Amino acid sequence: MKVFRDPIALQQELRGLQGSIGFVPTMGALHLGHRTLIEEARGGNDIVVVSIFVNPTQFLEGEDLQSYPRKEEADRRICELSGVDYLFYPNAEVMYGHDEMYIAAPDVRAYVLEGLSRPGHFDGVLTVVLKLFHIVRPTHAYFGKKDAQQLALIEQMVENFFLHVRIVPVDTVRESDGLALSSRNVYLSSEERQEALKISYALKCATKMIAKSVLNTATITQEMEHVLVPLDVEYIAFVNRDFHHIEQVELGNTVILIAARVGTTRLIDNLFV
Ligand code: PAF
Repeated sequence: MKVFRDPIALQQELRGLQGSIGFVPTMGALHLGHRTLIEEARGGNDIVVVSIFVNPTQFLEGEDLQSYPRKEEADRRICELSGVDYLFYPNAEVMYGHDEMYIAAPDVRAYVLEGLSRPGHFDGVLTVVLKLFHIVRPTHAYFGKKDAQQLALIEQMVENFFLHVRIVPVDTVRESDGLALSSRNVYLSSEERQEALKISYALKCATKMIAKSVLNTATITQEMEHVLVPLDVEYIAFVNRDFHHIEQVELGNTVILIAARVGTTRLIDNLFV
């Protein structure tokens, strides 16, 4: 595995190669969820590139940019063992200059749900992903469905800017008890981890109701709210794949999303129905 810190050097190296490039952009602290993305990329491409960059522009004032888990050695080892060909490990100085251009995420889709409580977050995500796409020029890029809104916005950016890359959505990986894997799970105490399970229980509760043909989203939300007590729930939302709120579940076209705080840790999870 070759490690690059310089974007231009990586760009030049990759330009000289033949074959498909599978790209997995990450912010590090790699867990099984990331390993699954890498496995998918490895299975479908000649060359696999992983980037690790804790992107400052997607963190808002007061968020966990400074304390975000950083595990360079362990991450490097995971990449090596997972058969990654190129690891891109830039710092903020090489990725950003001063007085730069930014991608403006769309006004509606990027300012609901995650974008409502984190205004500007998706501008930062899309800006860095576009930069990374230009550096790596992947044929395929892999993103987890756990960040459903991020995934939808990246798909939209690819369409809007006529980018030549196929976005491959990958299912959320869960612990055996249902907790969705997240780099932020390390912040949870063992009691908080138990509490956090309520998020996946609430999604299971929704699945059961839908299986019994309860499709009214207000009715399902009420039941989910009971399951989530006493968590500090930021939102429970039912949207279609275009991220418009819906009142009736549309089978095959619905995403149910939850954001909640467990202690001081903000967690998100979702279910594609
Ligand atoms: O999902 C993430 O880890 C980040 O938002 C991403 C896509 C790597 C951009 O920084």
